[in-house]
Amino acid sequence: MLNEAHDQNTIWDDLKSHHRALQGVTIKSHFKSDMARASNFKLSLDELSFDFSKNNLNERTIELLLRLARESGFEEKREALFNGAAINTTEGRPALHMALRGSCPDHLDIDGQNVKTRVDETLEKIRIFSEKFETEGFFSHIVHIGIGGSDVGPQLVCKALRHLGKKGRDVRFLSNVDPDHFHDVMEGLDPEKTLFIVASKSFTTQETLTNARSVRNWLAQHLGDSPALERHFCAVTSKTEAAQEFGIAHNNIFDLPDWVGGRFSLWSAVGLPIALYVGFDNFRALLDGAKNMDTHFLNASLETNIPLVMALIGIWHRNLWDFPALCILPYSERLALLPQYIQQLDMESNGKSVNKDGKSVAHTTAPIVFGGSGTGAQHTFFQMLHQGTQVVPCDFIAVKNPVHPLGDHHEKLISNVLGQTRALMDGYTNEDQPHKNFEGNRPSNTLWLTQLTPYTLGMLLALYEHKIFTQGAIWNINSFDQYGVELGKSLARKALEKIRARS
Ligand code: F6P
Repeated sequence: MLNEAHDQNTIWDDLKSHHRALQGVTIKSHFKSDMARASNFKLSLDELSFDFSKNNLNERTIELLLRLARESGFEEKREALFNGAAINTTEGRPALHMALRGSCPDHLDIDGQNVKTRVDETLEKIRIFSEKFETEGFFSHIVHIGIGGSDVGPQLVCKALRHLGKKGRDVRFLSNVDPDHFHDVMEGLDPEKTLFIVASKSFTTQETLTNARSVRNWLAQHLGDSPALERHFCAVTSKTEAAQEFGIAHNNIFDLPDWVGGRFSLWSAVGLPIALYVGFDNFRALLDGAKNMDTHFLNASLETNIPLVMALIGIWHRNLWDFPALCILPYSERLALLPQYIQQLDMESNGKSVNKDGKSVAHTTAPIVFGGSGTGAQHTFFQMLHQGTQVVPCDFIAVKNPVHPLGDHHEKLISNVLGQTRALMDGYTNEDQPHKNFEGNRPSNTLWLTQLTPYTLGMLLALYEHKIFTQGAIWNINSFDQYGVELGKSLARKALEKIRARS
């Protein structure tokens, strides 16, 4: 909903009147008036394409939205992002995750340190470590301990690239402080053959440290409190001293610069389990794919800029149509964690009510992001998407060529993408049986990847990062802090004291 009191910008007035004009128009009718709509409303970059034809918008909409981007200072803010300005104003630091894939200026120094040198050193350390890991062959199991941004990204990538996983290697993720999770992850592990990675930027996160301590006890029980224990632990953190105090050898501590936000950190040493599981070259290819998207985001014209156009469509839905949610639907079981990943990326970045000037925001911000793997979701919550009272824009993500072709499975999978996006748009009129009526006119985007590779996955994830940055830029919020998670944590600490006092 637009907040009228704050809204004096004429571009928003123009968008509102344009929106009124489109209210009586159906998405389907846009296809009738433009026979080439499917190709006119599609953007491509190498092996990724973005089909946004099935939204209620036309060329004028895009024109106005691009004007909104320009008038919101999008180009200047993008430059500030890549050039290392302290755009995370509440924490007084830059957000430089793009530097982890070589997309920031080489001469950039932060806190007296050259960013590129720091990134290259860590990458080299990951390379050497993963190659040694490979040749020595001491470990067959990797357990990555972390939560939130220190968990979901590497977990998503390892699952997505399972087909590239080294033979006989197993990677597991321990995040929840729930003892049952600990039990399930640790079940059947051979202590001699297991490497544990503790990933925590702050090295204070309760869940991660509790799990890490319990793992240390478990190892000590099995291996004795010997120096051999050191060999079984790595840390990824910006707090080296805290990791050393925990007992992790200095050589096994990987740097995580504080200018990398947790939810943007899979490109850093937080991605170490990826390099160990699928090999360093594949980790590198993931970074290269993301770099390709960075270059596109920086250099493509505004009209052809995929993250920008995707962000603007999100603004159109959120602020003009007042749609409250966004549904992420990967039609690839390998990408089943993508909704959860984007949920953190979007809601933790843009779930803000205060703008960069400390005032109430002028417009509603992050949508509620949810989703699930297609086609399973079709048999669960799609009912609401098709016939519910709220319109929920959807992002369908589909892969053209499967990793493991099998009979007609893939054709069937893809036919569901086509059928569902069509059903959402077209609807179906049944006046006699209202319960069988589909209103239609429900918007969706479809992202196509030619294949699921480290490179295309890197492109896809960087696309969403830039989309979300762009929306934050337009809403004039700080997308890089997350104070909203703090209050609950501190009250939980107090509750823990009370529970302990009672027992
Ligand atoms: O509590 C939220 C949060 O700080 C996320 O932003 C972050 O990804 C996660 O916790 C883990 O934090 P850390 O890496 O410091 O353990």
